[in-house]
Amino acid sequence: MADTIERSALLNRKMLIDGEWVDSVSGQTITVENPAKRQPIAIVPRGNAEDVDRAVQAAYRAFPAWSRTVPRDRGKLLLKIAEVMEARHEEIARLLAWENGNALRTQARPEAKNTADIFRYFGGLASELKGETIPFGEHVLSYTRREPLGVVGAIIPWNAPILLGALKIAPALCAGNTLVMKAAEDAPLAVLLMTEICQEFLPKGVLNVLTGYGPDCGAALANHPLVRKLSFTGSTEVGKSVMRAAADRIVPVSLELGGKSPSIVYPDCDEDWVVDGIVGAMRFTRQSQSCTAGSRMFLHADIFDSFLAKLKKKAEALKIGDPLDEATDMGSIINNKQFTKVCGYVSDGLARKDAKLVFGGLPPKDGPLSEGYFAIPTVFADASNDWRLAREEIFGPVLVAIPWRDEEDAIRMANDSHYGLAAYVWTHEIGRGLRAAHAIQSGWVQVNQGLGQVPGHSYGGYKQSGIGREFSLEGMLDSYTQRKNVTVNLNTPVRG
Ligand code: NAI
Ligand code: MG
Repeated sequence: MADTIERSALLNRKMLIDGEWVDSVSGQTITVENPAKRQPIAIVPRGNAEDVDRAVQAAYRAFPAWSRTVPRDRGKLLLKIAEVMEARHEEIARLLAWENGNALRTQARPEAKNTADIFRYFGGLASELKGETIPFGEHVLSYTRREPLGVVGAIIPWNAPILLGALKIAPALCAGNTLVMKAAEDAPLAVLLMTEICQEFLPKGVLNVLTGYGPDCGAALANHPLVRKLSFTGSTEVGKSVMRAAADRIVPVSLELGGKSPSIVYPDCDEDWVVDGIVGAMRFTRQSQSCTAGSRMFLHADIFDSFLAKLKKKAEALKIGDPLDEATDMGSIINNKQFTKVCGYVSDGLARKDAKLVFGGLPPKDGPLSEGYFAIPTVFADASNDWRLAREEIFGPVLVAIPWRDEEDAIRMANDSHYGLAAYVWTHEIGRGLRAAHAIQSGWVQVNQGLGQVPGHSYGGYKQSGIGREFSLEGMLDSYTQRKNVTVNLNTPVRG
């Protein structure tokens, strides 16, 4: 199947507006590239403000009927989508690996399966859109309703596009909103296939999915007057512009932004399973293109060298190459812009006197890996938490290792960041681990594991990592509903 994908001609995909698969009004297109080979693989419409307006108008028209559909019936449709997503997960996963360079076995396939679970999870929650009654006394009935907001505008990135897309689609629609979602220009194909599956079950206009660039399509969506809620996943910089657009119209926003998440390794943890955990937390097998990546490692000085030696052995054993090859652990960076950016950070690290390259470095200039945007796992050791590589989100497989002796120091450095998305603590002493977990300023702290999100736990950031939560019932209620209170006087005079 890898072969059939690679031999086929340039795919030509359309976007979904009002139940129809359409080109952009302007007729302009975007070429999608396979980053592992640097070859064009597909053409998608380049949507702009006119397309956004058509999509938003369609979602606006679809809203009254959809919002009045009994929630359980909306949930049933999501459950049907989940079944088809699961049945077709391999096809989706292959397309995904092909377009965004994530390895099929370690990333794209698990992502496709998890995406089916997102639809299943939210589909089952439809009857939980409950309100409360308020005890104002025997003569008053006061109750709240959870009502949808209206048209939701969502913008998603390329790094886990179907999962992140499903995290907008499933809760927004379950709660009775209609949706216009813009896919990322670098990875729209698997999202469009997921959209096709959704559209088999949904009334027209309930879900609209656009392809286009950020400034002309994403910004038009963020600024559209009929959009009543904005949900964005991507860079902190663009997140701020989405929030500004929301401020102009006073619409609520959910932002899932960047991270520079700390991993604190205690001296009792110089062990292979912790090393495996660090490889997982750093998301090396997604080229570390993850907002959750544990990319600052605070390693106790007593085990600094021995732990790094073990990490080197494990990281260097990762097989980098063709994302569609089952043997591949780690695929390619998404595009030239990100590749150049990652290489820039590595060059900075190499040029810095205080930093020691533990392993990795710049990508090979020749051989098979030079055909694509392949970066290699890289670790720099440096005593400082203050240099560029320790402060900025690299979004590539570049980890900084910082030694510590005093626990307070480690936690202070961990918190000395404008980000606060995730964190990892590694120790056998559970009390110590939990005290650290409570002291860390992050939306999600894992102790002794470096896994990915599971439907049901509220996920989201502190500080500039974002606002709002995803992945959970509470996230759906807070992000995609508004409360209405109805207060009834029961003391009206009896007639007749
Ligand atoms: P980006 O934030 O520019 O792109 C994310 C989405 O926003 C894409 O759909 C893009 O088309 C859209 N967008 C871009 N400019 C926009 C605008 N002015 N108005 C509305 N929508 C806009 O991220 P990019 O350029 O792909 O990556 C840059 C950096 O962002 C990465 O190096 C990484 O640090 C961070 N990032 C974080 C992600 C996360 O999961 N939180 C995902 C992707 C990137
Ligand atoms: Mg950008």
